[in-house]
Amino acid sequence: MGFLGAGLIANAHANGLTGSPVPITISAVYDPHHQRAQNFAERFATRVAPDVEAVVEASDAVYVCTWTSEHRRLVERVVAASRAVFCEKPLATTLADATALAEAVHRAGVVNQVGLVLRHSPAFALMGRLVRDPAAGRVVSVVFRDDQYIPTQGMYESTWRGDAAKAGAGTLLEHSIHDIDLIEYTIGRIVSVNARSTNYHEIPGIEDVMVAGFGLAGGGIGSLLSIWHDNLARPSQRRVEVFCEHRYVSLENDWHGPVRWQDATGGEGGYEGADLVAAAASSLPPLGHPDHAFAAAVAAGTPAYPDIAIALRAHVVADAIYRSAAARGQAVDCG
Ligand SMILES: NC(=O)c1ccc[n+]([C@@H]2O[C@H](COP(=O)([O-])OP(=O)(O)OC[C@H]3O[C@@H](n4cnc5c(N)ncnc54)[C@H](O)[C@@H]3O)[C@@H](O)[C@H]2O)c1
Repeated sequence: MGFLGAGLIANAHANGLTGSPVPITISAVYDPHHQRAQNFAERFATRVAPDVEAVVEASDAVYVCTWTSEHRRLVERVVAASRAVFCEKPLATTLADATALAEAVHRAGVVNQVGLVLRHSPAFALMGRLVRDPAAGRVVSVVFRDDQYIPTQGMYESTWRGDAAKAGAGTLLEHSIHDIDLIEYTIGRIVSVNARSTNYHEIPGIEDVMVAGFGLAGGGIGSLLSIWHDNLARPSQRRVEVFCEHRYVSLENDWHGPVRWQDATGGEGGYEGADLVAAAASSLPPLGHPDHAFAAAVAAGTPAYPDIAIALRAHVVADAIYRSAAARGQAVDCG
């Protein structure tokens, strides 16, 4: 496995790979920030490569973990050499670039995975099962809230999230691309949106609040609130409430809940922590850890999950949300 980018998420993936049941070697790392590359190489016992090509040459698979505006160019170079690729989310800063990236990967026919890691979350897997259970009835409405301290104030040891040329946009694209994907993965297909955004921090091109109303294929409606605030005392937190015809389901926190439900018939329950992990096991993709799953897919030459085609769909919805917000809430179809 080679690494392009040696920052926060590259370290997280390399750390994840250290426990992989399929043995792997980290072949090389390249980052123009030399000290970061050096630190990464020392931590994961690998070497610093002089450029992108040297990483591609030395690797069967490459993690693209740079800021977003570099993803398309680098993924295209990786797959042109027929190497497997793991691309971080978001795929790109625009829908056009995300589409071109996805087409290049598809044409190359290589194993590919994307950093929509919450598809491996036990909490979301359990929530999805409770919502899709026929006993729940149809989804009537959803409230999905995602709040995070704005990541431009130093907590992330990087500044690119405040630069629209590198990040593309703000809280919706950079952070809540996960949420769009999670709504479609656990609840239903989004067929239309109407959105409003604000920019309290006045960073050009970086919205810090997005509120998107959405219509679901089954007829339900919901809202997604994505906010970057200044309350550093709060961890990044998701809270979801789903009202189905015969069941209410709630989720707090990204991985280990609690997830609770209440049925119209009087039944109710909830899971948290290790109990939740056990209860969700049958609904999770095989190999619980996203990096272990990628390593296994690369070794076997089998499709990885979630792949870049799944991520492209989230970009289609994100693009519709930005177009709606630009038109001050006008409805935009994205079915
Ligand atoms: N899946 C997730 O939950 C998750 C979490 C955090 C970040 N991310 C995504 O991961 C990506 C990186 O975020 P981060 O927090 O690690 O940023 P970071 O600033 O910590 O690291 C990015 C690194 O990329 C390097 N870089 C820039 N251009 C490069 C190039 N051409 N070749 C090699 N290296 C290059 C930079 O020097 C920097 O060190 C972003 O797209 C971000 O949205 C995903």
